Amino acid sequence: MPGTALVGIQWGDEGKGKVTDLLAASTDYVVRYQGGNNAGHTIVVGSEKYALHLVPTGILYPHCIPVIGAGVVVDPQVLIEELDALENRGIDTTRLLLSGNAHLIMPYHLELDRVQERRLGRNRLGTTKRGIGPAYADKAARIGLRVQDLLDPKIFSAKLEVALKEKNLLLTRVYGRLPLDKRAVEDSYLEYGKRLTANITDTSAVVQRALDDGKEILFEGAQAALLDLDHGTYPFVTSSNPVAGGACTGSGAGPRDVTRIVGIAKAYCTRVGSGPFPSEADPADADILVEAGGEYGTTTGRKRRCGWFDAVAARYAARLNTLTEMVVTKLDVLSCFEAVKICSAYEHAGERFEEFPPNQTVFNKASPVYESLPGWGKPLGQARQASDLPKEARAFLERLEELVRTPATWASVGPERDQILELGAPHRKYSQHRG
Ligand code: GDP
Ligand code: IMO
Ligand code: MG
Repeated sequence: MPGTALVGIQWGDEGKGKVTDLLAASTDYVVRYQGGNNAGHTIVVGSEKYALHLVPTGILYPHCIPVIGAGVVVDPQVLIEELDALENRGIDTTRLLLSGNAHLIMPYHLELDRVQERRLGRNRLGTTKRGIGPAYADKAARIGLRVQDLLDPKIFSAKLEVALKEKNLLLTRVYGRLPLDKRAVEDSYLEYGKRLTANITDTSAVVQRALDDGKEILFEGAQAALLDLDHGTYPFVTSSNPVAGGACTGSGAGPRDVTRIVGIAKAYCTRVGSGPFPSEADPADADILVEAGGEYGTTTGRKRRCGWFDAVAARYAARLNTLTEMVVTKLDVLSCFEAVKICSAYEHAGERFEEFPPNQTVFNKASPVYESLPGWGKPLGQARQASDLPKEARAFLERLEELVRTPATWASVGPERDQILELGAPHRKYSQHRG
């Protein structure tokens, strides 16, 4: 049975957690394939609210097996705290499977993330300071420690020795910080290893066996296409590949195993941290979006930068991901505007760009070309089917489909599980498939 990938197609926080939760209801496995606890996925179930950072969203369904794949970077302390917090709320977490090949976020990665950001000053990326970039850098440099090293104290100690020699020099000589104590790091990490032993396994084998057995697999993306290390707005990106292709490398599934690719898009746009954002709204409209949309980061609590739907960026993301469909979230938030804007092209130096500019300098300086659609002026929280939506809201969704060239199959109208509606059979006229 082929798998489904669920990916963000903007700058993150599109509501992936909510939609993963919807699809997980009929899924056997939910697999995280990249990122780490920089992610913050919120799920609201009645009066309960869950903010998941590392644990896949499928944890909330007893029938579903959550898997953390090899492409994820894992801070074991955070993982254990998250598991404990879920257990305390009555959720069984023993089903969680953790790849032995996943890399560990170490205390020096956290420290380096902080001091490197400080050193960049006004050029800082605005990272989540969770050690993500430094951990992926060590992975690529082949000096990282992996989850499976926790199970072999001798290997762990030898690898830590090598890593710490260099990191302590860096921390003390370059950044003027105190060195880290090897013994303290080793003791705490080996304890984490004992706690996680039962969860650690060869998750690529698990995923492949499940596919062979006809199980439904959902690959849960974190972050989003515009934050992709290779295809996003570099250097203002994260250090992994959130695009659907990452679902294969990060989990061990093959490209032919993923046939349904669902892009999640907010009806407007947000961005946390630094970097270009052509459709960023003026402060008055941005404040309305922040308040109406509750746009504060799930991970860092930072106020998110808000703007209008960027169809150029979304179309680029649709192409990178070969989306088969998209889900538009937070449509309800736009109810407070008399007119809703969509950025359908960019302009720079007298030139109009309908496609994402290949040159970052152009993107940095691009101004948005907006089209304005009539608003609907009614709350949408009670809508449960397409016919409940005012015609202006339906016209807005149809225009998004047209601009992104992707059928919108669902629209979300509130944070609750049931605040979502199906938009009908995918329109065949839009497709990212070649041929
Ligand atoms: P993720 O990182 O993509 O999973 O998104 P986040 O959870 O960080 O941010 C999305 C926020 O919007 C969360 O607080 C959700 O509870 C909330 N949310 C999701 N869908 C909707 C929706 O359709 N309407 C409203 N008003 N809120 C939503
Ligand atoms: P979810 O999964 C929004 C952003 C950070 C920063 C940049 C690099 O909830 O959508 P990092 O700590 O990854 O090195 O930071 O990426 N960022 C996110 N923004 N949602 C996220 O995750 C993000 N994860 C990272 O704000 O600009
Ligand atoms: Mg989030």
